[in-house]
Parts: sequence; structure tokens; C-alpha cells
Amino acid sequence: MKTKVLMVCLGNICRSPLAEGILKNKVNPANVMVDSAGTASYHIGKSPDSRSIAVAKKYGIDIRQQVCRKFNIRDFEDFDLIYVMDKGNYDTIVQMSNSAEQATKVRLLLSAIDGSEKEVPDPYYGGEDGFEHVFKMVDVACEHIVKRL
Ligand code: 4NP
Repeated sequence: MKTKVLMVCLGNICRSPLAEGILKNKVNPANVMVDSAGTASYHIGKSPDSRSIAVAKKYGIDIRQQVCRKFNIRDFEDFDLIYVMDKGNYDTIVQMSNSAEQATKVRLLLSAIDGSEKEVPDPYYGGEDGFEHVFKMVDVACEHIVKRL
């Protein structure tokens, strides 16, 4: 059966679209399904932020086709693993869960690297270099995730 992985951030236009694109690029789509969502509603229906599109393109990944959507409690049923970018989003999602089984699906993305509680910083209000920094840390985390899938 396919493993289903959901990447979650606040807006679903900067970090989680990158995480979706990066992980998709490392897995066999016959075995792993990857999607992303946001906890906020601001950008529903929009394409990823142009700075995320640009940094992904720099590394050979096309995320232009992605469309922002909001996290829904049905995602707890539909996905096996829910990776969140920061603690704020971790708390938001865990509070929406209906069981311990659902809550244990939720993990901080960077914990996949070393079990730490580090966060992927929100690059929205910063410059281009923030997106490069996010790309690199998400890429390392996804390498670790792939090894364990
Ligand atoms: P993301 O970044 O959570 O990585 O998609 C953000 C995008 C938009 C906003 C905040 C963070 N916003 O406030 O509109």
C-alpha cells in the first residue's frame, strides 16, 4: 500500500510546497503519495510564493502546479505521516486530532533528522536567502524521511 505523507505549514505557499516538491522528487510515486496543506486560510487556491517557485527551480524541481489548500481533519484519515514545519503548526494540528493515533501521526519535520525540536523558519517576510536556507534544511530532512519510508 502507498505511504501517504502530508507537509504542513501556516500559509501553504512557502515552506510546505517546497517540502512537498522536494520529497516528491526523492520517492517513487507508485509507492509514496505526497501532498501539502496550510493551517491558515489566507492563500487558499493560490500558487506557491514566487520565491519558493524560484528556489525549487534552481534545484531542478517544478512546484508551479501546486494549489494552496487548508488542512482538514479528514487529512488525519487520509495520511500516514503529517510533517509540520514549526511548533505553532504542530500545536494547531494536534489540537484538531480526535485520538492518540491521529496525534502520533504529527511530527516536526526537522525531527526526522536528529529527533530534535528544531523548526523550519517562516521565510515569508524575509529575503531570498531565507528560501535557500529553508530549501536546504527541508532537503536534508526529506533525505532522512526517504530512508525510513
Ligand atoms: P508558509 O509562509 O507558512 O511557509 O507558507 C507564510 C505564508 C504566508 C503568511 C505567513 C507565512 N501570511 O501571513 O500570509
